[in-house]
Amino acid sequence: MSLSIVYSRARVGIDAPLVTVEVHLSGGLPTFSIVGLPTTSVKEAKDRVRSALINSNFNFTDKKITVSLAPADLPKEGGRFDLPIAIGILAAMGNIPQNVLQQYEFCGELALSGELRPIIGEIPTAYAGKESGRVSLMPKENATRAALIKGASIIGCDSLLQAFHHVLGQRSIEFEQLTFASQGYCTDIDLQDVVGQPMAKRALEIAASGAHNLLFTGPAGTGKSMLAQRLTTILPIMTDDEALQSAAIHSVCGQQINPATWKNRPFRTPHHTASGVALVGGGSNPRPGEISLSHNGVLFLDELPEFDRKVLDVLREPLETGKVTISRASRQAEFPARFQLIAAMNPSPTGDHGDGRSTPDQVLRYLNRLSGPFLDRIDIQLEVPRLPKGALTQDPQRGESSESVRQRVAYSRGVQIQRAGKPNAMLSSREVDYYCALSADDAMFLENAIERLKLSTRAYHKILKVSRTIADIQGEQAITRAHLSEALGYRAMDRLIQRLKSV
Ligand SMILES: Nc1ncnc2c1ncn2[C@@H]1O[C@H](COP(=O)(O)OP(=O)(O)O)[C@@H](O)[C@H]1O
Ligand SMILES: [Mg+2]
Repeated sequence: MSLSIVYSRARVGIDAPLVTVEVHLSGGLPTFSIVGLPTTSVKEAKDRVRSALINSNFNFTDKKITVSLAPADLPKEGGRFDLPIAIGILAAMGNIPQNVLQQYEFCGELALSGELRPIIGEIPTAYAGKESGRVSLMPKENATRAALIKGASIIGCDSLLQAFHHVLGQRSIEFEQLTFASQGYCTDIDLQDVVGQPMAKRALEIAASGAHNLLFTGPAGTGKSMLAQRLTTILPIMTDDEALQSAAIHSVCGQQINPATWKNRPFRTPHHTASGVALVGGGSNPRPGEISLSHNGVLFLDELPEFDRKVLDVLREPLETGKVTISRASRQAEFPARFQLIAAMNPSPTGDHGDGRSTPDQVLRYLNRLSGPFLDRIDIQLEVPRLPKGALTQDPQRGESSESVRQRVAYSRGVQIQRAGKPNAMLSSREVDYYCALSADDAMFLENAIERLKLSTRAYHKILKVSRTIADIQGEQAITRAHLSEALGYRAMDRLIQRLKSV
């Protein structure tokens, strides 16, 4: 028969919908046409497929070739359909029986030589293949990572010829096996690298336990960036589902996934010159941005006031909802973006505040680059002071290791999940009322403090949530005055702004 049907998958956002590749050979002039692909990539696909077939020593057909990629209205990026088109042509020419093709899904870009080149988005592709009960045949490099999906049947090939021999059963390739995938935390940085700063480490542990957003302020060189980079080392490792979801997002962005570290929570540090699109995602067939790459993990914004205020304000919605919707004329995409924000900044444009080099007015203007509503979304704000003289050299105090803090964090996070099904930072205001009840005395104490600091209702809820986390770390049922006082201490920016305004 001169008609063949081959299955493949497109990439749409972080999904991989099925694409049926039909190839028909008929009489007439030996033309080669592809329908269902955007015009620019059609020509390229044709040229690659033709050369790859010829260079793999197949006789290229002298019939008229018509290829249809259905459904036609899905966006399709050229490269990944090269292999299914080539296989389809071989089948239509009678070189591969149609019935053996039904069990496979093919994806891969062809080099002119017939070698296979990796595609992006192998994780969603292989995952969808597994759900459909078919075998995913893909470039070897993609296959090694797709093997992270438990129960998926993956065949990795280096070339068109290898794929051809495999499907014919002439030279079978074994299913891809995962050689090594870490089940735990794997890193070369540790909280003990940071000398001193016990208060900052305490704040980091609270932030990790309750998934609270955190801001470090302080002069340059006190270890703010170092501390921030170590937040992921004390967070509980990801579950299989979380790790797979994160891997899927990374794979559609063409990011390498390392099986040794794939359970570590992602840590992303976009530069302050990053555009809105780089941060939240975009493009005609939208790709996720930094906030989605940090889904299940941490987004670190260093030198916070240097970021464009408009860009920061775009983060406000995903910070609340845990997802981002990107609207394009042609289509809409929604990406998960449940990330924990950690930020660091110098509280003054010239270095240290109070160094006399900038007036309170200049400092205020600098701080005003951060909008109030944005700052409101940060639960814990702490000043990181200079280390005392000699702290780095004489008997440096390194505190606990990441490993031991991580165990405590995992425990108190577990308490939260059991109580409310989510970490404390994600409690709704109604849940805060329910789970963070105070005695009449303590409620009055908090109200007075809020008034003194001129805090918003949102800040009020934040303080209660942070207090809840502090109590959970201590293993205590009720929130007490001590927990509230500590939580109130984590409002460094509010205090600073208060002070500057009163000068
Ligand atoms: N508490 C600390 N413990 C160990 N090294 C530190 C500490 N604080 C600063 N350093 C050293 O100073 C460098 C700058 O620290 P960094 O975290 O970038 O400071 P910041 O972000 O506060 O400006 C680090 O690479 C490290 O070598
Ligand atoms: Mg820094």
